[in-house]
Amino acid sequence: MAEESQKWVLMVTAQTPTNIAVIKYWGKRDETLILPVNDSISVTLDPEHLCTTTTVSVSPAFDQDRMWLNGKEISLSGGRFQSCLREIRSRATDVHDKEKGIKITKKDWEKLNVHIASYNNFPTAAGLASSAAGFACLVFALAKLMNANEDHSQLSAIARRGSGSACRSLYGGFVKWIMGKDEKGTDSLAVQLADEKHWDELVIVIAVVSSQQKETSSTTGMRDTVETSLLLQHRAKEVVPKRILKMEEAIKNHDFASFAQLACTDSNQFHAVCLDTCPPIFYMNDTSHRIISLVEKWNRAAGTPQVAYTFDAGPNAVLIARNRETAALLVQKLLFCFPPKSDADLNSFVLGDKSILKDAGVDSLEAIESLPAPPEIKDPSQRHRGDVSYFICTRPGRGPVVLSDESQFLLNPETGLPK
Ligand code: DP6
Repeated sequence: MAEESQKWVLMVTAQTPTNIAVIKYWGKRDETLILPVNDSISVTLDPEHLCTTTTVSVSPAFDQDRMWLNGKEISLSGGRFQSCLREIRSRATDVHDKEKGIKITKKDWEKLNVHIASYNNFPTAAGLASSAAGFACLVFALAKLMNANEDHSQLSAIARRGSGSACRSLYGGFVKWIMGKDEKGTDSLAVQLADEKHWDELVIVIAVVSSQQKETSSTTGMRDTVETSLLLQHRAKEVVPKRILKMEEAIKNHDFASFAQLACTDSNQFHAVCLDTCPPIFYMNDTSHRIISLVEKWNRAAGTPQVAYTFDAGPNAVLIARNRETAALLVQKLLFCFPPKSDADLNSFVLGDKSILKDAGVDSLEAIESLPAPPEIKDPSQRHRGDVSYFICTRPGRGPVVLSDESQFLLNPETGLPK
């Protein structure tokens, strides 16, 4: 290794998407190995709008493993980071970079330290599954750096050790996390059901709901649920297995009515299970409930579902519209009910794919003020100004990729320190 000098630095940069579950993972049968009590299914979100970029580097000059998240150094001492690092290191193989004249053998990897820098292109504090994209990206990038010849499913089982939902971010499109049976968790991994092109009509609108409330973390919340909720046992044994089969069929057949019905019901049951926990956990707030009511009324009036909603461990709504036309209508209705505070600007109130705004006929803040009242609203004089911090318009997206453009690297290629 590094015969010529101790100065070399080798690095890999990757980009990995986040995902939103439409059949939820909630509850572990093994806390350390992160093994779930049921299968789950998710949609991968377009990394153009929501993703993590991670640069991993190795050099004989590094005296310890270090990591920076959004520019700030964070500790790698946690069990979950350590599991991921250990699992990937044990699968490292020989690396020969002819251009740089670097040879690293399988044995060398045990002694070499890594530097990791990670960056989310969306606010980490917004509660948008940043740990899912983060751990998936860490594992994917390290696997490339260390020439670990595992396929994406095998890598998903390692990302799972970082955060359960992370295993589903190793693929684009529609993904199933199979809970598995093995005590050691070797068969608890993600598989792709369909790629992002399979159902590309779908449009996803995320409402980032303003909230001062400190939420219970998923990890703590699901631990309490497993210990106290009888409803969870019923859900995991009786409800989810049947729903998974139906959801797979709905995705395969582009059956939006069934897809929406299953996604909404499953989100609601997940929140019911939270309520059935002792002490009860409240993730949704009044704004979340208002959004549910709007969508439910609209879907009923239309005679067939137009939009599906799903909520994770927080008040943010993830809304999936059947096509662009419906998405434009959805955006109009949402902007009517939840207009921005008067000092906002449209450009930072609607993020992501802004072309939906054009379809919705909204090109200015004034246009929001003169939108027609949706028929679903009881009292159109009451608009909940400022209750949604901002919206993100996106779509189903691709899985992890390696980035080769040096300008996107987060570590300095010479020093291996943050740029
Ligand atoms: C509600 O994956 O964040 O988003 O495995 O403890 O890290 P840990 O939990 P995490 O839980 C996600 C829960 C959820 C549902 C889902 O994504 O399936």
